Amino acid sequence: MKADIILFNIGQLFCPLDENKPLRGEKLKEATILENSYIAIKDGKILEFGTKSYEKYIDDNTKLIDINKKVVTPGLIDAHTHFVFGGSREHEFALKLNGVEYLEILQMGGGILNTVNTTRNISFNDLYDKSSKILDHMLSYGVTTVEGKSGYGLDFDTEIKQLEVMKKLDHNHPITVVPTFMAAHAIPPEFKENRKEYIDLIINEMLPFVADNKLARYQDVFLESGVFTKEESLQILLAGNQYGLKARVHADEVKSLGGIDAAIEADAISCEHLMATTDEDMYKMSKKGIIANLLPATTFSLMKDTYARAKDFLKYDNIITICSDFNPGSCPSENLQMAMFLAVYKMKLTPIQVLNAVTINASYSVGLQDSIGSIKVGKQADLTIFDVPNIDYIFYNFGVNNVCGVMKNGKMV
Ligand code: NIG
Ligand code: FE
Repeated sequence: MKADIILFNIGQLFCPLDENKPLRGEKLKEATILENSYIAIKDGKILEFGTKSYEKYIDDNTKLIDINKKVVTPGLIDAHTHFVFGGSREHEFALKLNGVEYLEILQMGGGILNTVNTTRNISFNDLYDKSSKILDHMLSYGVTTVEGKSGYGLDFDTEIKQLEVMKKLDHNHPITVVPTFMAAHAIPPEFKENRKEYIDLIINEMLPFVADNKLARYQDVFLESGVFTKEESLQILLAGNQYGLKARVHADEVKSLGGIDAAIEADAISCEHLMATTDEDMYKMSKKGIIANLLPATTFSLMKDTYARAKDFLKYDNIITICSDFNPGSCPSENLQMAMFLAVYKMKLTPIQVLNAVTINASYSVGLQDSIGSIKVGKQADLTIFDVPNIDYIFYNFGVNNVCGVMKNGKMV
């Protein structure tokens, strides 16, 4: 078979180990790096790759692209973001600098609730345009697939508006968008005195509609002190399971409050943040195979030093990913490379571990492991090209965008 496109003269091709399972613990250190290599692409998929001759894949219609010794990796996957929202929250920056805690701002009616206000008041089209620009940025930083959460509506119409925006973007934008329903992100002001009624609204009205209209693939809750309790979270997640929505849990961001037990009971695919997770809970997550989505740029942005203990998660043989957590409050940066760089400098992971975390492991976190996340014949040609001589350089030369090209489904975008 002949190729439509061949990328040749690749300096280093980063190939995560793809043994039809995510990389746990020690395995995260492993990868194949092919020097002087090529990738042949046909119908948007990987036809072949390697270091031998690619002559046999060429005919008159094959387009040859010289990569000039740069680095190529699978398209980066950001498995945790909140990228669809109205407004911004730079006014919180001064509070943060003055030592006001993230949860205190929320308690004062700001934080997430501030963004709820601006998201309720923005039109569908404006929200679409704003979110589309954010995806453009993400793409420029090498991201080809993004998980995105609702949770800035906290009412029926706005939650659905956020999910509809993601659906339309998934259709129109080169980036693949994996939607998560997260009405359990905070208790809206109008239900402050009646939490139970809001939870009923999620379970009885929002969840059935979201499921019937296939507007989300996952559900998520913010299990934290002053937000949703373990019992409330579990009630919502179990209800979502009835509708086929697999759970994700924002757990142990500030305090360890039984979020991991809730995630286990709800058969969650992943837990998020995990800055305060105990050793015992790390062990439990590993036993159950729950993916740890670690978000170092959030810790950084919150001006804390309590980074999730990535190495300990690995010691307990866990599956970890690194994600941006892009959102207007606790992490206003859509640059996944920022989180990747912090994973190296603050969590002391190696470049190979981080690249595995944002490719093969992240593909499992978003449930798309059959089509993306590694360099494998038959997988989608989603590729990120870094203008650097080797993979270490991506992290060594920090603070700049090292990405110079992105391919999505076999097309340069
Ligand atoms: O993952 N922690 C909860 N949710 C988001 C922040 C949302 C916000 O502050 O707007 C997070 O950090
Ligand atoms: Fe989050």
